[in-house]
Amino acid sequence: MRRNLVAGNWKMNGSAESIRGLLQGIKEGAAEVAAADLVVFPPFVYIGLVEQQLTGTSVAWGTQNLSEHASGAYTGEVAGPMLQDFHCTYVIVGHSERRTLYGESDEMVARKFAAARKVNIQPILCVGETLEERDQGVTESVVERQLKAVLDLEGIEAFNNAVIAYEPVWAIGTGRTATPQQAQDVHAFIRAKLAERNPTVAAQTRILYGGSMKAANSGELMAMADIDGGLIGGASLDAKDFLAIARSGC
Ligand code: PGA
Repeated sequence: MRRNLVAGNWKMNGSAESIRGLLQGIKEGAAEVAAADLVVFPPFVYIGLVEQQLTGTSVAWGTQNLSEHASGAYTGEVAGPMLQDFHCTYVIVGHSERRTLYGESDEMVARKFAAARKVNIQPILCVGETLEERDQGVTESVVERQLKAVLDLEGIEAFNNAVIAYEPVWAIGTGRTATPQQAQDVHAFIRAKLAERNPTVAAQTRILYGGSMKAANSGELMAMADIDGGLIGGASLDAKDFLAIARSGC
């Protein structure tokens, strides 16, 4: 049985002060959502603070990105072994904002996925189509292409220790959520693609939904057969909202 994972992607938001408050709220309510795994993704500079605040709690942490390289002359980048120093459990790779704003290709995302695995940090691989692609009816081929780049480089077994997040780009930060059936259809497609390579791995891989998920819609989304939690942006910046989403899937 797959356990729900509810992940808070804080993006480029917060301050030391606001993060202390947010974590306090999450820690106080985390016990009520024992049936789901919780993880938060602060901006890099706050990872030490988050580690300090969350060590010994049931809430995990990680970062929103990492370099494909392990060290070297890559000004401004942060490497996997550095994240290991801060005991990160997960790392997001291939978020659509990285793909579109910072030019990350499918191949680069696959190399980042590999870099995370090398340091035993579980990658959360984001995939998803733009509105234009959905309108053109190519959602499945886009998602398949994004997935294939990782499968070809790392193999299906890699998903024994990885998570996928389906995030339709048109739903991110727009207030426009995919309907439970729209999301379920793509989740089932992703699982079927994994199953073509290994049905056992496919059956245990967690596939999260992301894109304007909030407490008002998370229950019905997570009730779908192939939706195993959420990657939450905006609503994860409020402890009550984040916890309400996590509870709704239990
Ligand atoms: P959103 O962001 O919940 O604010 O739409 C989700 C994401 O980008 O991971």
